Amino acid sequence: MKRSEIIDLLKSESEQDEVLIQGWVRTRRDSKAFFFMEINDGSSLKNLQAVVGEDVKGFQDDLKEISTGASVSIKGRLVASQGKGQDWEIQATEVDIIGLADDTFPLQKKRHSLEFLREISHLRPRTNLFGAVFRVRSRLSYAIHRFFQERNFFYVHTPIITASDCEGAGDLFRVTTLDVHEPPRSEDGLVDFAQDFFSQSTYLTVSGQLEGEAFATSLGKIYTFGPTFRAENSNTSRHANEFWMVEPEMAFCDLQSDMDLAEEFVKTVIQSIMQECEDDLNLFFQFVDKGLEDRLNFVLSRPFQRITYTEAVEILLSSGRDFEYPVEWGANLQSEHERFLTEEHFKCPLTVYDYPKDIKPFYMRLNDDEKTVAAMDVLVPGIGEIVGGSQREERLGVLTENMKKHGIDEIDYAWYADLRRYGTVPHSGFGLGFERLLMFVTGVSNIRDVIPFARTPGSV
Ligand code: 4AD
Ligand code: MG
Repeated sequence: MKRSEIIDLLKSESEQDEVLIQGWVRTRRDSKAFFFMEINDGSSLKNLQAVVGEDVKGFQDDLKEISTGASVSIKGRLVASQGKGQDWEIQATEVDIIGLADDTFPLQKKRHSLEFLREISHLRPRTNLFGAVFRVRSRLSYAIHRFFQERNFFYVHTPIITASDCEGAGDLFRVTTLDVHEPPRSEDGLVDFAQDFFSQSTYLTVSGQLEGEAFATSLGKIYTFGPTFRAENSNTSRHANEFWMVEPEMAFCDLQSDMDLAEEFVKTVIQSIMQECEDDLNLFFQFVDKGLEDRLNFVLSRPFQRITYTEAVEILLSSGRDFEYPVEWGANLQSEHERFLTEEHFKCPLTVYDYPKDIKPFYMRLNDDEKTVAAMDVLVPGIGEIVGGSQREERLGVLTENMKKHGIDEIDYAWYADLRRYGTVPHSGFGLGFERLLMFVTGVSNIRDVIPFARTPGSV
């Protein structure tokens, strides 16, 4: 007999004589001639209640062993439920134990702290909250692919092992097969990476952008969506060392169109989740963040604010706020500044553009003022930066000049310069932090709680 999934059974339009479900016992309640189990099979937030009467084989012996956490297989009739809060229940005719769980099972029915649950990341998806988070994570991935595929973007798999440091921030995880205890050394005593596996230094990628540009300047519009790695030692609720990034890249596209796409993208995928993940979202609305529903609706209902970096600095300076990091034209906006702008000043998502060139990577397009580059960041309430992007420098001379200034070896990036040497075009793109978007959509405030197995400093 074929197993039914609870998500489908709960949508049933009529009673069904015989169904089979398999799942995990969330709770068990006993009365004299019956016991009740709440069964969850992961297909939805909702459980299906099973009623087991004394006529079911094993009622007096084996089935007594079933407790929270056990896996079971239940055959029975799907009937209208007498109980409150559910339309259907299953009246068991046969119950088989698949795997018992003893009372050391950590997820007994009580509230657990997020910190405790982080220590059992292999079991936490069996809770309501994390089941919901990871179902939404999956749906959000799908919505992202759909968004781009429907708009003629091609999905490109950029490499994970790379020799380039796209962001130039030096936050790289080295990939090596050299013997760490006795590495080969060159005459100057330094480790000789020419003898390493790829005959040079290699790292885990921090961004697929540079390779993405090669494909955008061939296929027109592309996106990447994959894992990226940063060895930054920032122990915050918004940084992970392994996270997923979505990076569209478009030929024949300037910064304005890039900002337009970022806004349309964020709104469209949020809309998809609101339509497709109603049950899971309701859990977040009720138990995670009471303001979430209004905030999501608000975000969908109006255009994002757009201001230049220079305007942002003026607003911050005239705010009268005593920020921890001083505000000064030319300095990076810190998270406290970004959050002031989006949460307190504008109270809505905000795109800041045209940043000082000296605080941005080598590939961004120099503006006519020669002081700023065509960069943009999208900031959202509660999180801060969710998107970072730019128009890329398409003029070979300006690019080479800029690479020199950033101390980049032209030979290593000759392939990147080729994209300007042969049929160069204006092009732009951005990177969206997938987990940050997921935090925004679910209201979950720590990035560790939206990643199946989070990698953060000091722990794997
Ligand atoms: O602003 P970033 O560093 O931009 C880039 O990497 C560009 N190459 C993207 C592009 O133009 N194609 O990173 C992009 C986004 C950030 O806005 C943030 O949402 C996310 O990636 N991000 C992180 N998310 C989680 N943990 C971290 N350590 C992150 N660092 C960046
Ligand atoms: Mg950034």
